[in-house]
Amino acid sequence: MNQVNQPKFRHTPVLVDEVRALLINDLSGVYVDGTFGLGGHSNAISLLLNADATLIGIDQDETALAQFDPSLIKQTLHLMCTNFENLDQVLFDLEIPKVHGILLDLGLNSFSLDDPERGFAFSLEGPLDMRFDRSNELTAETVINEYSQEDLADIMYRFGEERKSRRIARKIVDMRNIKRLTEIDQLREAVAGCVDPRFRNKSLARVFQAFRIEVNREMDVLATILDSAINVLAPGGRLAVISYHSLEDRMVKKHFRELSQDIPRQPGMLDEEVKIPFLKNITRKPVIATPEEAEANPRARSAKLRVAERTSHAQK
Ligand SMILES: C[S@@+](CC[C@H](N)C(=O)[O-])C[C@H]1O[C@@H](n2cnc3c(N)ncnc32)[C@H](O)[C@@H]1O
Repeated sequence: MNQVNQPKFRHTPVLVDEVRALLINDLSGVYVDGTFGLGGHSNAISLLLNADATLIGIDQDETALAQFDPSLIKQTLHLMCTNFENLDQVLFDLEIPKVHGILLDLGLNSFSLDDPERGFAFSLEGPLDMRFDRSNELTAETVINEYSQEDLADIMYRFGEERKSRRIARKIVDMRNIKRLTEIDQLREAVAGCVDPRFRNKSLARVFQAFRIEVNREMDVLATILDSAINVLAPGGRLAVISYHSLEDRMVKKHFRELSQDIPRQPGMLDEEVKIPFLKNITRKPVIATPEEAEANPRARSAKLRVAERTSHAQK
């Protein structure tokens, strides 16, 4: 039996119909799934594409890629275990200069969230790890024990929008002065000691999100891929991003908005100052799940899909 069907490795992809309708512009094109996971979106995309299309699946988590049965895909499939911030290098190695679509379904997959050893879920017992790529050195344990109190507070405030960030940072430092924090329950205890029990779970979610973003440099790698996507998309090619929290969605929205504005010719302007926009915004408002999907798949409730298209005349 295909291991994907085992409950331990289940992940229900979100907004599948919407992604297929908005991403695919060329049935024989080259498509990059930058967050391949268990291949749910890629599989669905592949069903629509012609046999001469190409799919490139990237994921930095080798456990995810190892679950996929490549015989499900009838097109040429390249599976690459790396960070999507290395997209330029991946395409260079494959000798593919331009692609017709890039999908990013950000965050983590359900089976990593459910695995206590990965340290992502505040409700489980396990180590303070939180790495998407377990070959990276930086873990949540290192961040929590070795960053300054001020940096800890900043991370929780910036990446988790946690209002009690200073108080929690002080508590973490008090605790680690007695004993190094290595387990999820110690971080849970630090947070619980600083917030009203009525809001404890919300604070825990925010604090765990913040440290996960820091450990995986999630905002930096998103900024990098948003930039490089422009260079590798063929004219008419599309970039689709599904985000699950407001920090990511804000970054995507701002990037799409900025690159879809033209600078019209003014008297006295040099030719190189007149810019044609790089992108056309396909989704002015984010696409969200239908009530039926949100009901059936809790992950879909916070998903926001934005899509932009590379314009044909833009130069970069
Ligand atoms: C929400 S899941 C994607 C699920 C996938 N769409 C599916 O249908 O199975 C996100 C995946 O992206 C991977 N990921 C997150 N950030 C990444 C990055 N910067 N580079 C490569 N993979 C990344 C995670 O390891 C995870 O498997």
